[in-house]
Amino acid sequence: MVDFTLTDEQTDMRELAHNFAEKEMRPVAWELDKYCAWPGDVIQKAWEVGLMNTHIPEEYGGPGLDFLTGCLIEEEIGWGCSGIGTSLMCNGLATAPIVLGGSEEIKQKYLGMLTEEPKLASFCLTEPDAGSDVSGMRTTAVRQGDKYILNGSKCFITNGSYADYYTVYAKTDKEAGHKGISAFVVEREWDGVTVDKKEDKLGQRASNTATISFNDVEVPAENLLFEENRGFKLAMMTLDRTRPGVAAMAVGIARAAFEFARDYSKERVQFGVPIAMHQAIQFMIADMSTKVEAGRLLTWQSASLLDQGKRNTLASSHAKRFAADSAMEVTVDAVQVYGGYGFIKEYPVEKLMRDAKIMQLYEGTSQIQRLVIAREVLMPRRVDEPAPAAA
Ligand code: CAA
Repeated sequence: MVDFTLTDEQTDMRELAHNFAEKEMRPVAWELDKYCAWPGDVIQKAWEVGLMNTHIPEEYGGPGLDFLTGCLIEEEIGWGCSGIGTSLMCNGLATAPIVLGGSEEIKQKYLGMLTEEPKLASFCLTEPDAGSDVSGMRTTAVRQGDKYILNGSKCFITNGSYADYYTVYAKTDKEAGHKGISAFVVEREWDGVTVDKKEDKLGQRASNTATISFNDVEVPAENLLFEENRGFKLAMMTLDRTRPGVAAMAVGIARAAFEFARDYSKERVQFGVPIAMHQAIQFMIADMSTKVEAGRLLTWQSASLLDQGKRNTLASSHAKRFAADSAMEVTVDAVQVYGGYGFIKEYPVEKLMRDAKIMQLYEGTSQIQRLVIAREVLMPRRVDEPAPAAA
């Protein structure tokens, strides 16, 4: 039997997130977008009400919520404002490698840091010449006694300017391709870490995106995550866990656009009737609704596989690919329903269209998701493997 009934806790968390999105995010979202402003106050409030770090296990001070609950929260946050939402949810991506591959001391220190205070962490994988092709990275970490010397540069880092620490991927064996990558926790205040360029973006302008450089940074050997040269696998396992959340955020954007378009179509009169009476508009609204519902189902499936301890690589790429592409399609159609007004900043939907674009790009483009899906369905053997253990 497939039962979509949520537990009381899941329903409560979803309601908490929805109320937060409505009262704390929506009223400031368009202004923050306009000025590309940092949502520090919203982050502080989200931390206080318990909407951040929900994935951190109880033994490190978090609530240890399941993945499905995390997705319920992310959909509401995405509905409120995905720009602010990306900043709010970034700790989940940055700390997944620690949850999966950190030693007990590292978990206590760095997960505890986020649950004790409203601090931030960032995930540093992408480089100027290594985006989809993770193994092409050039950042290096060379072992010297009880430390590694880190050199390189990471770009498009969410919350990069504000993070207290980074989970950084670097080559520890330059000749070994994906088998020569390792992951480390690196603090922003350490000598040699610099926050460089802050990006001026098309959408999600309330989230901070920066370049971070590492120049002879001394990283204690105990800050190595998982095992040396197994960082690529750790990155892939991390993305399997976080892509359902990205999909949920995309569903939230699509749902917001659908609701705005649906309501507007009932008010706007053309040819003597509300445009909702015209079949051309009805079919667009119908397709929007289907895409929201289908995206949510794929998202829930990908999260619930994780909650059952099963490998979700295929489901996670299905969800992320479909929900991200749907968010783009639905927001473009919402602008179309608004007609000329949709193109004007005074109306809400052009922001959603700009915000949706990044969903098809970050945490693996829609093309990379298709590549993963193709490999998984052409080699079904891998699908049935158990979730890889972290240690
Ligand atoms: N789980 C565990 N292991 C996995 C795995 C998974 N999901 N996927 C692959 N692996 C393993 C493979 O089994 C293989 O293992 P062996 O060495 O034992 O053989 C190894 O990893 C290499 O796998 P591939 O041959 O598939 O590797 P590839 O080089 O072809 O790359 C890829 C595959 C899917 C393209 C991958 O590079 C990828 O996901 N790229 C996209 C990266 C991405 O999402 N970047 C976004 C960064 S985060 C972000 O956006 C920043 C932000 O702040 C928002």
